[in-house]
Amino acid sequence: MKRMKTKNANSGYIRIFDTTLRDGEQTPGVSLTIEDKIEIARQLSRLGVDAIEAGFPSSSEGEKKVIKEIVKAGLEPEICGLSRANRKDIDAAIECDVDTVHVFIPTSPVQMKYAVDMTPDEVISAAMDSIEYIKKHGMTCEFSPMDATRSEVPFLKKVCKAAEDAGMDRLNVPDTVGIMIPKTMGTLVEELKNVVKVPISVHCHDDFGMAVANSLAAVEAGATQVHCTINGLGERAGNASLEETVMALHVIYKMKTKVNTRLLYSTSRMVSTLTGIPVQANKAIVGENAFAHESGIHTRGVTVKPLTFEPIDPELVGRTRKLVAGKLAGTRGIKAELEEIGIYPTEEQLKEIVKRIKDLGDKGKMVTDADLIALASAVMGEVIKEEKIVELCDLAVMTGVKVIPTASVRLILDGKEYIAAETGVGPVDAVLKAITKLTHSLEKVRLNEYRLEAITGGSNAVAEVVIKVEDEKGHIVSARAAREDIVMASVEAMINGINKCLLKNRKQVNKN
Ligand code: KIV
Ligand code: ZN
Repeated sequence: MKRMKTKNANSGYIRIFDTTLRDGEQTPGVSLTIEDKIEIARQLSRLGVDAIEAGFPSSSEGEKKVIKEIVKAGLEPEICGLSRANRKDIDAAIECDVDTVHVFIPTSPVQMKYAVDMTPDEVISAAMDSIEYIKKHGMTCEFSPMDATRSEVPFLKKVCKAAEDAGMDRLNVPDTVGIMIPKTMGTLVEELKNVVKVPISVHCHDDFGMAVANSLAAVEAGATQVHCTINGLGERAGNASLEETVMALHVIYKMKTKVNTRLLYSTSRMVSTLTGIPVQANKAIVGENAFAHESGIHTRGVTVKPLTFEPIDPELVGRTRKLVAGKLAGTRGIKAELEEIGIYPTEEQLKEIVKRIKDLGDKGKMVTDADLIALASAVMGEVIKEEKIVELCDLAVMTGVKVIPTASVRLILDGKEYIAAETGVGPVDAVLKAITKLTHSLEKVRLNEYRLEAITGGSNAVAEVVIKVEDEKGHIVSARAAREDIVMASVEAMINGINKCLLKNRKQVNKN
């Protein structure tokens, strides 16, 4: 029998069901490595969500592997796998040993006909058979009549009743294409509450920018669980953003969730970095401008009394109104800032983070919330010195008008020194080519993805480089670095990625 992590629906708080790793990963252009997904799952657990939808087990062997790893991590939240209403999909979820199977089937006329080509009766019997099968295996079952909000209400009610008779534990109401408004969402939830006794959850998409408002309206009408994603990621325009939903529940509705809101900003930064989807500056709660004040009357007001122009205390969501760290910040202060947002470096890592902050301060550069997190994540993600197989000795790059960008690097590989030079379309391309030319003698690791983010803007911004490197067997690892110098950040990220790849493969060989 599986452990039951589902809380009583009426225990006075709203459950947060996070689907960043499933619907969020369906964001166009996002593809996360196993490492990335586990890192995000651990952070979601620290954040305090009630459930993590870890993925869609039947979609691929790789997906199953990640979900199994997340289950093995023994995290606090309920771990859920998505499944279509068929036994093959459910078997894949069972194989992953998830706590909950989230089974879905379309119920709107357009999706029944054109997405799955099933009659309404076939939909009901597939839903019932799947739910009974899940329950027979002792798992929690959350059922979603997909496209519920475009379904004919009498049929939707019939499906929900049948699902309850078959044993579903929770009913999730998806607004699959985001066409609801708060009023209609509230009415629908009220109607469904008269049909089923199980807790009701909602899953709102943001096609008209109303996912959060619709989720809150559903809660007002009696829903006790909300599906959310960090930064509002998800199919098309995304899902209800977790940070906005949770803060509105806490601050406006005075309702409780288990989310530790102080970790919202660091979680948002982590997800943005790993997915490569930037957060717009004016996004509520986690956008760079969310706690910035510019006009004179505002700055004067918040200085005297923050409540004048701040509906939320920035510290409550892991933010500060102004600069958090600079030349004068001490080690203890930086440690406290980091711990406040759930980042715990070792003594060694802390020393390096402080050094980099002071270097920036010495150059007159201000360090913002986002810079601090990027610097800390880069330092903490580095392979430790003693384990490094590849080390940089020195490098030189040349670029300019009518000059072919050229780079030469001197590296230590397994204790021996080597030099290589390469040309490229630009200095970064040239230097990364020179590095891989040398490291190919150890293993043919290639660059799979490269992303550059200037965090605070301006030509002296801290640049964060996030890369993915792939070995010959197709294993992908990600690495990052943050520096003012884009070439240096790229080189550090690349060497870090190659070291991670080599170390992983050598450890595997030693194990066999
Ligand atoms: O948007 C949707 O309908 C979904 C289902 C799988 C629940 O994501
Ligand atoms: Zn969805």
